[in-house]
Amino acid sequence: MSEKIIAPSLISANFNNLEDFMNQINSSKAAWLHLDVMDGHFVPNLSFGAKVISNIRAKSDLFFDVHMMVKNPSRLLEQIANSGADQISIHYEACDHLRTTLQKIRSYGKKSGITFNPTTKIEDVAEYFDCVDHVQLMSVQAGFDGQEFLTESIDRLKKIVKYREENNLNFTISVDGGVNPNNIQLLASLGADVFVMGSAIFRKGQVFQTIDIMHSLVNK
Ligand code: DX5
Ligand code: ZN
Repeated sequence: MSEKIIAPSLISANFNNLEDFMNQINSSKAAWLHLDVMDGHFVPNLSFGAKVISNIRAKSDLFFDVHMMVKNPSRLLEQIANSGADQISIHYEACDHLRTTLQKIRSYGKKSGITFNPTTKIEDVAEYFDCVDHVQLMSVQAGFDGQEFLTESIDRLKKIVKYREENNLNFTISVDGGVNPNNIQLLASLGADVFVMGSAIFRKGQVFQTIDIMHSLVNK
C-alpha cells in the first residue's frame, strides 16, 4: 500500500511567522503543501496568488498542491504554473470548459485536479475523472478554514473510490475541509490518499508534532 499523505493548508498558518511554519512543515512528515487560491468572487474570501506561492517555493521542496477557488481559472493558470505549483485543482462549478482547462494544466507539465462543492453531484463530475491525476473531495463548502466536516462526505468518498475501482482509474483522492484526528482514520480506511488539514494542525500551535501524529494515524 502506498503511503498516505498529510497536506497542511497554508491558509491556516500565521502569516506573521511564515518562516517558522515553513521550517516546521519541511522537517515534518508532510509530503504535500496545500495552497488555497481564493478570488473573493467564486468564494467570498480572498487569500493569495502566484507571488506568494513562488516566494514559498524557494523555501520548500514539498509537493505544491494548489486549490483554485477562482471563477474562470484558465486566465490564471500560466502564472500559477510558473509560480512552482506541482498540481492544480480547479472547481467543477467555476469553469465552463473543464476538459480543455484540465488539459491546459497538463500542458504546463503539472498534474491536473478536479474539485467540487458538497452540493455538486458526484455523477456530474465523474465524467471528467478520466482526464485528471487528482480528485479533491470538498467536505465543507469551499471558502474558509475551520468549518465542521460534513458527514455526507463519507458516502461521497465511497462513491468516488468505487468509481475509481470500477473504471480502472488511478487518480489520487484527497479530502479537504474539517479533517481532524477523529475522522482521519475512517477516511483513510475508505480509500482517501491525501488529507488536507488546516485548523486541526494549527490549533495547538505545535504544527510539526501534530502533522507527525496525523501521519502515524493513517500509516500503520
Ligand atoms: C477551505 C479550504 C481548505 C481549508 C481547510 O475552503 O479549501 O483547504 O484550508 O481547512 P480546515 O482543515 O480547517 O477545514
Ligand atoms: Zn483547499
